[in-house]
Parts: sequence; C-alpha cells; structure tokens
Amino acid sequence: MNAVEIEQAISDLAEQPFDAANFPYAFLEAFGNKETTIKRLRSSGENKSDVGSDSIFGVLQRNNIHIAVCNVGETIITLDKLRASPATEKAKAKFILATDGVDFEAEDLTTGETVACAYPDFPNHFGLFLALAGISTVKQIRESTFDIRATSRLNRLYVELLTHNPDWGTAERRHDMNHFMARLIFCFFSEDTDIFNGNDLFTATIEQMSAKDASDIDWVISEIFRAMNTKIEDRASGNFRSWANGFPYVNGGLFSGSTETPKFTKIARSYLLHVGKLDWTKINPDIFGSMIQAVADDEERGALGMHYTSVPNILKVLNPLFLDDLRAELEAAGDNPRKLLNLRKRMAHIRVFDPACGSGNFLVIAYKQMREIEAEINKRRGELHLKSEIPLTNFRGIELRDFSAEIARLALIIAEYQCDVVYIGQKEALQAFLPLDSQNWITSGNALRLDWLTICPPTGTGVKLVSDDLFNTPLDQAEIDFENEGGETYICGNPPYRGSSWQSKDQKEDIEDIAKPILKSWKSLDYVAGWILKGVLYLKHVDANFSFVTTKTICEGEQAPILWPYVFKSGTQIQFAHTAFNWSNLASNKAGVTVIIVGLGKASTEKRLYSDDKCRIVKEISPYLTPGSNVVIVKSMTPIGQQAKMLRGNMPSDGGNLIFSKTEIEDLIKSKELSKEFVKPYMGASEVINSKLRYCLWIEDQKLEQALKFPFICERVNAVKEMRSSSSAPTTRETKVAPHRFMQIEGVAERYSIAIPAITSENRDYLPTALLDGSIILSNKCYALYDAPLWNFSLASSKLHQVWIGTVCARMRFDFSYSNTLGWNTFPVPKLTEKNKQDLTRCAEDILLAREAHFPATIADLYDPDNMPEYLRRAHDRNDEVLERIYIGRRFKNDTERLEKLFELYTQMAKSAK
Ligand SMILES: C[S@@+](CC[C@H](N)C(=O)[O-])C[C@H]1O[C@@H](n2cnc3c(N)ncnc32)[C@H](O)[C@@H]1O
Repeated sequence: MNAVEIEQAISDLAEQPFDAANFPYAFLEAFGNKETTIKRLRSSGENKSDVGSDSIFGVLQRNNIHIAVCNVGETIITLDKLRASPATEKAKAKFILATDGVDFEAEDLTTGETVACAYPDFPNHFGLFLALAGISTVKQIRESTFDIRATSRLNRLYVELLTHNPDWGTAERRHDMNHFMARLIFCFFSEDTDIFNGNDLFTATIEQMSAKDASDIDWVISEIFRAMNTKIEDRASGNFRSWANGFPYVNGGLFSGSTETPKFTKIARSYLLHVGKLDWTKINPDIFGSMIQAVADDEERGALGMHYTSVPNILKVLNPLFLDDLRAELEAAGDNPRKLLNLRKRMAHIRVFDPACGSGNFLVIAYKQMREIEAEINKRRGELHLKSEIPLTNFRGIELRDFSAEIARLALIIAEYQCDVVYIGQKEALQAFLPLDSQNWITSGNALRLDWLTICPPTGTGVKLVSDDLFNTPLDQAEIDFENEGGETYICGNPPYRGSSWQSKDQKEDIEDIAKPILKSWKSLDYVAGWILKGVLYLKHVDANFSFVTTKTICEGEQAPILWPYVFKSGTQIQFAHTAFNWSNLASNKAGVTVIIVGLGKASTEKRLYSDDKCRIVKEISPYLTPGSNVVIVKSMTPIGQQAKMLRGNMPSDGGNLIFSKTEIEDLIKSKELSKEFVKPYMGASEVINSKLRYCLWIEDQKLEQALKFPFICERVNAVKEMRSSSSAPTTRETKVAPHRFMQIEGVAERYSIAIPAITSENRDYLPTALLDGSIILSNKCYALYDAPLWNFSLASSKLHQVWIGTVCARMRFDFSYSNTLGWNTFPVPKLTEKNKQDLTRCAEDILLAREAHFPATIADLYDPDNMPEYLRRAHDRNDEVLERIYIGRRFKNDTERLEKLFELYTQMAKSAK
C-alpha cells in the first residue's frame, strides 16, 4: 500500500463507530496487512500478546506492533503495561498502542516518539506508523502528517476530477487544472487563517450553496472565484450573489483569467468538503509544496512526493552560500543599532534565485531564515512592530512544470503570511496580505534556454543587458525590477541530475546549446552541469555566488576534465563544497542518489570544505573536492611514470557460449566432447575476489580447423556468430572478429598477471589486487598488468593508489570504479631507483606470503575490514611505509596530505610529459 491508500484507510477507520474487538485488526489492515495475515493472527496462536485480561484485549504482531484496547479511562495505564510487557520485547515490537475508543496513546519504541490524542484524531498522527507498511522515513516527514493528509486528499480529488473531465488532463488543459488546484489550496488555507471572513467560509459556502448531487458545484465555485477577481468597489455592477460577495478581493494573478471550473461528481464534491475540513493552519510550506507537486505528476502521485528535499539538506546549500555570513554579521553587530540597521538594509537587497525551483522549497527556506534574522534585528532595536523589509519578489525561480511553479508562488505567499503572523502579529499580517501582489516572480520555463539575466537582472550595476547578449534567446516574459539596488545575488537549488545516457533528446540539445560555444566536448556531461555552466556565464555579468546540489560524477572521472577547466578559466572558483553524501529521505531508499554540493563565486582567500558536517578551511578546493589546486586529471594512454603498461581484460561478447563452469568443463572433457587443448582458466572480478575459476574456449587461429572437428565447438562457435550478428550494439553486430575468439583481446600473460577488479567495494582498506598464473585469461571486468615487475603490485596495493583511484576515477555510488587510463596511467610515482624497486618488490612478496599463510582464504575473506588478519595488515603497512618514504621521507599523516602530494606531483609530471 502507498501512503495515499493508507491515509484513506486510516481516515475511514477513525470515522466508523469504535469497535473494540475489531480495532487492532482493522488498524493492521489499514497499514496493508493482508487478509490471510489478519486471519492467522485472529485464529491461531500467532497472537502472543500477554496483556490480555477481563478489561484489556491485546494483539501482538511480531516485529511490528503490540496493540491493546481497554476500558474507558485506562489508556495511559494500558500503554504502561504494553511497555513493560515481556512479550513486547520478545517479539521485538516497534510500536505500542493503547486506546479505549475515546483516547489514543502510542509510542515508537525505537525513537521514543509518542502520540497522545483523542481517538477521532489519530489519523493526524499516521505518519508515526508508516514503518508498519514498510515506509521508513525521516522524523520530519513523520511529523508532517498534516501535509501528507492534505496531499493525499487532494490527490484523490485530482484523480476523480480528471476521470470525469478527461479534457482537463490533456496537454492543452493541464495548466487550467493545475491552476484550479492552486486556487483551491489558497482558499482552504485562507478560510482557516482568518484571511477570509469567518471560519471555513469557502468549504461551508460550497456545502450550503451547492446541490448534494454536485450538479451545480462548478457554478458555485466559479462565482466565488469571480468575486475574488473583482475589486470590492467594482462589485455592484457584477451581479454577485450575497454568498459570493462575502469573499474578499484576492487576485494577484491567482484568480484572474477564466473562472471555469471542472465538473464535479458527488464523490468529487465529498472529497472537496473532506479536504476543506482539515486544519490548514498546520500547513508547512517547506514540505507541502514538494508533496503537493506530486499530485499533478502521474508517476509520482502514489509516493506522495515523500522523497522531497529535507530542510537540513537545503541548509547545507544555503548556510555556507550566505546565511552563515548574515548570522555572523548579526552576532558581530550585537546591540549596536547602526550595525543592526545596516544588516537589515543589506538583507532587503538580497536576491535569492533558484533556477530549478520545483515547488520553491529552497526559496521558502531562504525567506524564512532571513525573516528570522530580521526579526532578531528588530527585537534588538526595539522595533518589533515594523513590517518586513524583505521583499518576497526578491526570491526568484524558474521551473519547468507549471503546477510546481504555481505552488512555489503559493508556498512563498503562505510563508510570508506565516512569518508576518509570528513576527508582527495576526492583525498586521491580515492587513498586509490582500490583495495579492500580481507580479510573477517565478517563471515557468526551461532554465537552460531562458536568459537568467532577464529573470534576475543585474539592477544597480548600471548595465542594461538584453537577453540576446548571453544566450541568443529572445524572451517574452515580463521583466520586473528587483528591489535590490546595489544588492547581492545568490543562486541556489538542486537541478535535475540526469546522466548523459538518461537524457532525452531535448535535454541533450539543451546542454549542447550552452556547451558548444565554450567547451570542446560535452556529450558525457550530466544534465546538472548545464546549470553550472549557466551560473558561470551569469557570473560574467553579475557579481553573484551560486551553489547547487549535484551528482558527484561531475567532480570525478571523465566529466571533471571537461567541465572544470572552463569554470576556472572564467575566473570562477569553488568557494565551498560538501563531499559526497546520501540525498535520500526515505530509509528504504538507501540506493538513492549520492550527491555533492558545490558553491562557486569569484576569487576569495579562504575556502570551506565540508565532509560529514565537519568544516575545514583550505586555500583552494580542487575539482575533486579535495584541498588543492585547480588541476584536473586527464586520461592518458601511457603511464606518466615508470609503472608498467596496464590493459583492460578481454571482452568475450559471446552470449555466454565461450564460457563454462568448472563442472561443465569437467563433464565435457570426460565425455570427450572437448579437448583440454582448447580450454583455458578464466577469471573476472568476482572470480578474483572469491578465488573461483571458470573456463573459456580459447582457440588459436592456427588450430581452428582442428578445433572445429569437435561438433560441440562448432555448435558454440556458430552460436557466437548468431549472437553477434543479431546484437543491438552496432560494434558487436558489425565486428570482423571471428566467432571462435573473444571479441576484444587486449592481452595475455606469459608467466603471470597482476589483476585489479574494475569495480570493487568501498569497504575494503586496500584495492583487491591479485597475482595470478599466466595461463588464466582475464575478462574485461578486470584490469591487468601482464608479466610486469612485481614492484607494480606494491604500487597497485598501496593506500596511496587507493586514495588516488577513489578521487580521480568515477565511483559507482561509493564503490571504486577502476580505470587504467584515468587512474593507473595518471598515478604520479616519483622516479624509482633500483633500490626502491627491490624494496617494493620485497613488500609485494610479503603481502603475497601473508595471504598464503591463510590459504585457502579468498581476497573477500582476507580483506573483510572487520576480520583482516593482523599479519597481512602489517605487510600492507610496511608496503605503505616504504612507498610513502619514497614520496616524502616519512609516512603521510592522512589522506588529505596524500592527495595534496599526489596532485602536486601529478602537476609537475604532467607538465614535463608535454
Ligand atoms: C530535483 S528537483 C528540485 C526541486 C526542488 N528544489 C525540490 O527539492 O523538490 C528539480 C526540478 O527541476 C525542474 N526542471 C527539470 N528540468 C528543468 C529545466 N530544464 N528548467 C527548469 N526546471 C527544470 C523539475 O521539474 C524539478 O522540479
């Protein structure tokens, strides 16, 4: 069940008369338990509750919840009993819940969060129990039950209306539908917050004035909307019904234009009244917007937008971008009225611009945080009565989806009202609220095609730029002057990430349009890189700073050398950065995207590098988000140092026809279907790590005729031919390589090979390098050094090399993704003397001997970080010691120092290699 369905089931349950004997089962059912599970719990001994008595009925579901229904007035004691119950602990229940049908008490035993409310209100807390349905999420979502419930109900209304007004779902009319929903949300909020005269004015008017069969509700709503679009002084000529006349003039663009309303069914009418009955004062514009925008998205709807961006993550961008600085200035101002006034003036001229703003969450948080600082200034200056000087229209955005753009505007309006209520009082907030400002400061459109200078123009700089100056994109949107004469501009957001292989044709063209005039290559750039480039171009004309959440792939591997040299050449530097972290809100979504944050601006002396919420002050931040220079690591076809040539393993492209398991090969040889002569042992990454062998057909050209005498070989060779010729990959389909051979043979060993798996876990302390017999064919899942001097093994197994690979090669989430051209060939090794090589060879042998001592333990066993044998660890330590002394005459203190040295050496070596 998804959250929408759960919300509905739980609301239905709360509305039914309380049935003590059935409540625990109905509650479990509402959270998605199947009928058979409930049946088993009811009838068999599966219910192990130990709190049952004459007055208590308990139901215990293992690993989930212990529920008890009790006599009226005994809820608190019963919850205590559930908490103390041995069965609760034994069955590892996550929640306890007690109710008498009047009160409702519950506790999350893992987090200690509790709920105590009247029974009919328990659906307001259903977020706490989402884990019962396998939806585990962050505290902030659990606490936002209002937003989940409102979204869930609007969801149902939206779907019902679209079902009966299919034309409103078409591309031409979706905008009208979305606009209609935005109007409804505004009305629900206004009727609960005294913006409309009288409580529940909107919902009550519709309930009273529309027919129960819903036949005229669209007309009633249209009339109300028409009134809200007509100034009070113009009402007389408008022939308004008295019930519509009670609504204030709102407009601000929200109620202008057509007042047409979709046709309602009886069900839709009831859904609308249901939504209206929620307490909309509880709306949280930080979250609500992100959730509600999912309503208009066919794919997102069921998930209720719960993977919205959390406030702490948004602050990771906004704090270092400018909020920390404002707070520091506030702190420094103390009670000095003049300094406080200066800060207030400064804030009144700050523009925040999010060019992929979705429902405006970055803007809303920025606005709220600034209002908090302003309120503190006013408090210290004894001017609490003053209206805010921070103009809402200084919070600008671009958003592709028009519903999200509408919601962003609404969320900001609501945030402004809520801040006014808190900081200057309800009466003053109401006075300032209506009519709404008609300026449109959130633009709906494609941020990579629009001219940011037009949307966020550099007023006060004395320069008037037209859109064509920058990106040749004539625009027709209104240009509003900012109230930021001489002010500051901060650009922020989390634009869409989209790797190059996931981009649509249009998105590829968006990137090309920006990148072609300025970069040599761009095809492998993530879509988000487009926002970095637009930001850099904007900074050429405006003194601003920007910070985006992005995929970490733009700061590693192939993309770093494409993107960053241009950024730096334009005079832009990384001012602050946040190294990789998980973006997800949902604990169940651990596989979610790994992101970084980069903050850019013009030169400054100090840079801040955040890692795991710790901040280091450094001189420069490299494109790999390490302390260091601007140097980028470029692929090299040959090693820049003395290390041996490393090749990719061999790619069969055989549809599995040339590869066999051990038993298969044994059987084939036994039955004489195959001769040993044409078989070689074969290993890929998994075989190297787990010491397993597979086998492959390996037929030298000169022995082909002889090999084809075996019908089995003939059959397999034909199957390879067939597979390759019907492949969807053009290179495979068109290959000239004969089908008895692997499609790409990069190399084989004569005596031995050193293998490194292409992708390996981040959890090991060293890269899992293996020394293998020369007869073994290595697959393309590995990289290989064939017959290379053993000191190369020492280099590849070192901490220095692992740190280098982890930084300059792309990562698969956090795991290492090895590359010979990007990681091995670029690995800067100082000139090694013969003595150095001998020492390193001995270290390599020691590591191999330490492994031997644990035969038949595999690399997976030996390098399990919790169980790595001490003897092996010491051998690695020695290897690192010997190698690091060659670099700097002592051990490095930490990885930061390692990287600094490596980048320094790389810069020197790359220069002299030119
Ligand atoms: C990752 S979301 C972030 C939105 C919001 N900050 C949040 O956390 O929910 C990216 C937003 O960019 C919008 N978007 C995608 N492509 C765009 C484009 N070319 N121009 C403007 N917005 C775009 C999407 O519709 C989406 O709302």
